Amino acid sequence: MQYTLNHSDSPANNPDDCIVVPVFSHNEKAELHLAAKNVDKACSGKISQFIETGDFKGSLEEVHLFYGLDGIKASRVMLVGCGEKNKFDLPSLNKVTKAAAKALKSSTSSSVSLYFADVFKPKKIQRAVTQIIIAYADNDYQLLDYKSEKKSPSKLDKVSIAFTNTSDKVNKRSELGILYGTSIAKGMKLSRDLANHPGNICTPTFIANEAKTVARDYSSIDIEIIEEAEMEKMGMGSFLSVSKGSDEPGKMIVLKYTGAKDKNQAPIALIGKGITFDTGGISLKPGAKMDEMKFDMCGAAGMLGTLKACAEMKLPLNIVVVLAAAENMPSGRASKPGDIVTSMSGKTIEILNTDAEGRLVLCDALTYVGKYKPEIVIDAATLTGACIVALGHHICAVLSNNDGLADDLIKAGNTINDRAWQLPMGEDYKKQLKSSFADLGNIGGPAAGTITAACFLSEFTKEYKWAHLDIAGTAWSEKDATGRPVPLLSQYLINKAYK
Ligand code: BES
Ligand code: MN
Ligand code: ZN
Repeated sequence: MQYTLNHSDSPANNPDDCIVVPVFSHNEKAELHLAAKNVDKACSGKISQFIETGDFKGSLEEVHLFYGLDGIKASRVMLVGCGEKNKFDLPSLNKVTKAAAKALKSSTSSSVSLYFADVFKPKKIQRAVTQIIIAYADNDYQLLDYKSEKKSPSKLDKVSIAFTNTSDKVNKRSELGILYGTSIAKGMKLSRDLANHPGNICTPTFIANEAKTVARDYSSIDIEIIEEAEMEKMGMGSFLSVSKGSDEPGKMIVLKYTGAKDKNQAPIALIGKGITFDTGGISLKPGAKMDEMKFDMCGAAGMLGTLKACAEMKLPLNIVVVLAAAENMPSGRASKPGDIVTSMSGKTIEILNTDAEGRLVLCDALTYVGKYKPEIVIDAATLTGACIVALGHHICAVLSNNDGLADDLIKAGNTINDRAWQLPMGEDYKKQLKSSFADLGNIGGPAAGTITAACFLSEFTKEYKWAHLDIAGTAWSEKDATGRPVPLLSQYLINKAYK
């Protein structure tokens, strides 16, 4: 899909096949302004006559399509209800964009102009344009399918984000909105595609190959793959305790993006949990919904997608990405409950439950990344079912050893409509990880599972500022992978690069 800007002339003269104009509601009645007013004038009041019937109230996501209005160049005019004007925000912008995209799916239009960003103040134009692209691309996403009969693709190939009036300020900000939006949408697509592949295709080796493709596509990115033999030498006994149960070799995938003027500027490290299938291991999971555990690599997919977005935007930062990729299987070589392993940090871990494997692969990645002397380390992981109990599917959890960092992540999430909420940590919770035999147990009992998982990780992050995103509830929906937290992290890195 091509996303462009349209700052030209009036909506009535817009040459696209369809123009989409927002209509707000006021006291249960639709109210025209800007683009809708312009169109109404040009077609001698056809729209206001229709509004007068009371059939269309302008409520959120309401859609009405006109064909062949006299005086309007576009053959279709779509009214989209946006609710009350003073309540119109980024989440509602996301919803109305998707409502328009959905209504266009069966249309034969090949080009559309959306007049949604037009209603925002100049200060918010960039965010609005970015949000429209993310929402449109989300709706437009073609599910990776393995079906032999292919659906015919939609004819629509050009989406313009259009404005009724222009100024240099608006132009500049909307251009930036296009760059951010298209870059983030590309990162989200990569992340979703990778995650939607089934576990028999998307193995640790497959992720490594995808990462190599990303590194090949951008001269700013270098890659190094650490194989199990080398991990052995480095003492990554915790990671290996997970991967050894599988016939698929585990991989620690390291990507380096150099975008800062100073090549030696301390990098930001992004670490992703990449369990390509989580059976639970010997602590086997129940059968219901186990297929969804192919998504247990969404942390890794999200970090790779974020890196792609950053490289597209050419952010002036240095970034190191580490993807901890392994398959968690029960086998004759798998870890057993009660096994004790030594992590790269030297800390010993009693594996009380082999299903708490994410923290076992992540802790060695967290130790490993210390060698880059990172300014900040962020990990993303589908780490705990408890996170879904706490926050559901709308908001991810952030836990950090630095409240300022947690705040920055939450703010970035709010800016781009990919929200996070902070949960606490602390000594009382850490105590739940005590082991009779080793330095640490890998589970903390049934209470506060998301917090004790983060407390486990925090034992390996003492050398740097660190935040953990538990994306168990947000990385996929009933249908497929969502591409989150690519928007949140991309926005965080944009803020970091240009603050
Ligand atoms: N990948 C799962 C967490 C998960 C479960 C995410 C369901 C999304 C949906 C993780 O490896 C896991 O199994 N965690 C255990 C931890 C427990 C054994 C302490 C869990 O959440 O049950
Ligand atoms: Mn598990
Ligand atoms: Zn898992």
